[in-house]
Amino acid sequence: MKSKVNTAVFPVAGRGTRFLPATKAIPKEMLPIVDKPLIQYAVEEAVAAGATRLVFITHRSKGAIERHFQTNYELESILKDSGKEALLELLHETVPPGVRFYYVEQGEPLGLGHAVLCAKEVVGNEPFFVHLPDDLIRSDLGCLSELSEIYEETGASVIAVEPVPQERTSSYGVVDIDERSVLKQIVEKPDPKEAPSNLAVVGRYLLTPDIFDLLERTQRGAGGEIQLTDAIAELLPTQEITACRFSGIRYDCGNKYGYVTANLDLALEQEDIRAALQEHLKQL
Ligand code: UTP
Repeated sequence: MKSKVNTAVFPVAGRGTRFLPATKAIPKEMLPIVDKPLIQYAVEEAVAAGATRLVFITHRSKGAIERHFQTNYELESILKDSGKEALLELLHETVPPGVRFYYVEQGEPLGLGHAVLCAKEVVGNEPFFVHLPDDLIRSDLGCLSELSEIYEETGASVIAVEPVPQERTSSYGVVDIDERSVLKQIVEKPDPKEAPSNLAVVGRYLLTPDIFDLLERTQRGAGGEIQLTDAIAELLPTQEITACRFSGIRYDCGNKYGYVTANLDLALEQEDIRAALQEHLKQL
């Protein structure tokens, strides 16, 4: 029996420049999809997959993330005194029972690989999830749970992938896989003409701890950043890494189109505003 995956790492130290000026004072991961910040969706998905240790790779400018998961005593007492029990319950639900929060500072955003390496001491010698909160995935199964199921069979790393239009490959890590979905190759941001396929890596990984030694040796790659993709490529000769074509819909909330469509789709799921919103869309 493979050891269960207890730890989820959330790299949240990036600058979020595509959302300026919104992200000048607010972390990108705190941007709401309707009424819940991206980071809350991320935590819920990880907890549903069995994670109890939540590790945030953060930056000093991102204190709002930590505050979101702390108790706001003043607000709670106001809600209690005014009998707003449902809202009080909503506040309590932001922190799932039985989880522990860890915050590790990434002094400078040197890339996703560097952010993951910052988690080394807290993760220890265990498999762990990496969850990028700006990739919002809506699925009944839960993307991290799907990765976990595969890991229980293989005991090796698993990464989530989805097909993208060929011309978009230069924005992603791209994989080549065999008939068993085992990775043959992975490259960061390939030119569409040279991409080995159109299967793009999205923001969910289940990694074994041997990735850390490789990350320590990884040099700056595409965009001058320490790329997680490059370390995964180094892991390939020693490990059968599986690509998982997860179910559900992914919204890339790191860009405006994905963010707006996520808001629209999730707003249409909310009963109190659905009818009015549909009416408004008809008018458009
Ligand atoms: P992105 O490149 O999508 O995020 O990184 P960004 O750099 O914040 O956004 P833009 O491009 O400037 O708009 C994917 C994820 O990895 C984290 C980011 O916070 C985001 O969640 N990240 C990236 C780090 O934690 N550290 C880094 O050095 C780089």
